[in-house]
Amino acid sequence: MNQEHNISYGTGDTSFQSAGGEAGIRKLVDKFYERMGTDPRFSTIYNMHPDDIEVSIDKLARFLCGWLGGPKRYQEKYGSISIPAVHQHLAIGTDERDQWLTCMKESIDEQTYEANFKDYLIAQLSIPAEVIRTRSKQ
Ligand code: HEM
Repeated sequence: MNQEHNISYGTGDTSFQSAGGEAGIRKLVDKFYERMGTDPRFSTIYNMHPDDIEVSIDKLARFLCGWLGGPKRYQEKYGSISIPAVHQHLAIGTDERDQWLTCMKESIDEQTYEANFKDYLIAQLSIPAEVIRTRSKQ
């Protein structure tokens, strides 16, 4: 529960709306991958991606749409997904996990979201990021 504004981000599509709906999420993911591809601090994880980064952008934006309580766009196009399973073939340790979370935090900070939602979002994303680390090829 967000005490200051009395908003519970995990309820219904509150998070999806707070992230600016589909257009807002797509904007975040565009910025996230642009940052990952241009800042050398994130080159290890950027280089793990397939050549066509547009596909990765489309997949993450669609996934986050449903994950935040909006329409299930990932399933519509790509079918069901297990987040740990799709990362299992990658070598993701603490450095790689933190590269991803730092890149995402800086991208979230650039958005016009409410400060409380920014904190909530990065805290929520750090949960699957840690699960991915524990299940991925070390
Ligand atoms: C822990 C740090 C993470 C790293 C280093 C990472 C890296 C990657 C890489 C390299 C790919 C492309 C894999 C491939 O096509 O071979 C990928 C795909 C993907 N990632 Fe991550 N990721 C991380 C965390 C997350 C988190 C926290 C989420 C969501 C909450 C996420 C969602 C996705 C999705 C939806 C795909 C597309 C899967 C598919 O359909 O193939 N990732 N990630």
